[in-house]
Amino acid sequence: LALIFNRLGIALAGALALVSPSLTAQAQDSAVERGAYLVKAAGCVGCHTAKRGTPFAGGLGLKTPFGTFFSPNITGDKATGIGNWTDEDFVRALHEGVRPDGSRYFPVFPYPSYTKMTREDALSIKAFLFSLEPVSQTNRDHDVSFPFSWRLLQRGWRMINFDEGRFEPDPDAGDKVNRGRYLVDALSHCGECHTPRNFMGGTDNDMYLAGTPDGPEDQLVPNITPHATGAVDWSERDLVQLMKTGLKPDFDNVQGTMAEAIDEGLTHMTDEDLEAIAAYLKTVPAIDNRIEKAE
Ligand code: HEC
Ligand code: HEC
Repeated sequence: LALIFNRLGIALAGALALVSPSLTAQAQDSAVERGAYLVKAAGCVGCHTAKRGTPFAGGLGLKTPFGTFFSPNITGDKATGIGNWTDEDFVRALHEGVRPDGSRYFPVFPYPSYTKMTREDALSIKAFLFSLEPVSQTNRDHDVSFPFSWRLLQRGWRMINFDEGRFEPDPDAGDKVNRGRYLVDALSHCGECHTPRNFMGGTDNDMYLAGTPDGPEDQLVPNITPHATGAVDWSERDLVQLMKTGLKPDFDNVQGTMAEAIDEGLTHMTDEDLEAIAAYLKTVPAIDNRIEKAE
């Protein structure tokens, strides 16, 4: 009997050896497919594509109070993109905001959110980016003023404003709300715009999602916490409709950076994910903060 089992074992091992290469190829395909979804959910394509430019080749100007940053080329081109990067280089950039040469990124690249992303999601994104045709396009230098142009200063900034670490599901919340929190905090980085910033440009976590008059591109960003000064009157369906179509319950359309976040990302997400985001938004602390633009 032992012999039979043994033979069976060898036969099984042989069969597995035969099928495993195609299994890996399949796993690779599904990583690429996941990655294609995630680059939209996480807004990578919107920021890393210049107006009328090639997707992911960079060059989009991002206006901030500190100057204009230009997104880099993140296609697999070896000379001008990230074609020489290892998995580790890529995961470290997203999780730690550190370049392969050890210097630090400016937080206009929302790594303070992406640090919460799972390693699997990060590597799926890399698999997708590397599955695309590499594009040769040299990065533009940032146009930022002293002292924010000093990458070295990022060290101090990070000590105060950056918590490195992966998303931890809340054991008291259900799967849906946890999925929503993961999407809001790690991928779709709603807080990068909807949470006000301190004088150093770090997010003020006591005011989580409570809005700011001084958002990106100098646009007013509303309070989306469930408070009377925020989005308390919005049902989960209203929120889903806004993320899919840009249409508010009063039939007005959102403009500017929110419209872009929708076109380039949220509208491509599954209903299930959008419903999870809406369910989570209903559970965040309600914050009293009426947002008005100073005249
Ligand atoms: C809000 C705009 C924005 C979004 C969203 C964004 N990035 Fe970036 N990204 C930038 C900017 C700007 C830089 C350059 C930062 C610097 O030079 O310090 C950058 C840098 C990078 C780098 C480093 C490239 C290099 O050559 O060093 C990688 C890799 C990267 N982003 C990948 C991604 C991925 C993947 C996503 C989505 C998960 C993403 N980015 C989303 C703006 C963005
Ligand atoms: C790039 C910046 C940015 C990101 C990222 C972003 N928003 Fe917005 N959001 C805005 C701005 C700006 C407005 C105001 C648009 C307007 O007034 O036309 C807005 C408006 C809204 C509104 C309408 C609120 C109201 O009272 O009119 C909701 C709801 C909303 N955002 C939810 C979200 C959610 C959920 C996410 C993440 C999944 C998100 N936003 C990500 C910038 C952003």
